Amino acid sequence: MSKSDINIKIKDREGIVHNIEAPTDMAMNLMEVVRSYELAPEGTIGVCGGMAMCASCQCYVLSETELPEMQDDEEAMLSEAFYVKDNSRLGCQIQITLEMEGLEVELAPES
Ligand code: FES
Repeated sequence: MSKSDINIKIKDREGIVHNIEAPTDMAMNLMEVVRSYELAPEGTIGVCGGMAMCASCQCYVLSETELPEMQDDEEAMLSEAFYVKDNSRLGCQIQITLEMEGLEVELAPES
């Protein structure tokens, strides 16, 4: 594990928890991390390409990890998405940084 990687726990849609290492130096967001580890079938996550326009990357934040504040487009998309909870975020709007070490999320159901 390189110094620029962080540990993240991601529970997939089958309920399986994956402990993965995510790079902080590759300008990746959480949706792209899920895709690169193939934790959700192709075509069920990242449908809009990370534009906050599809909600296929919705996840529930389970840890107390400090995350960047929601921007208007993320908030707007979540206000019309399915299965939204208080701890919902769009994975594509969360850029991976060192501060997110220990982050735990669960992928929201496919809608
Ligand atoms: S990938 Fe479409 S909203 Fe995140």
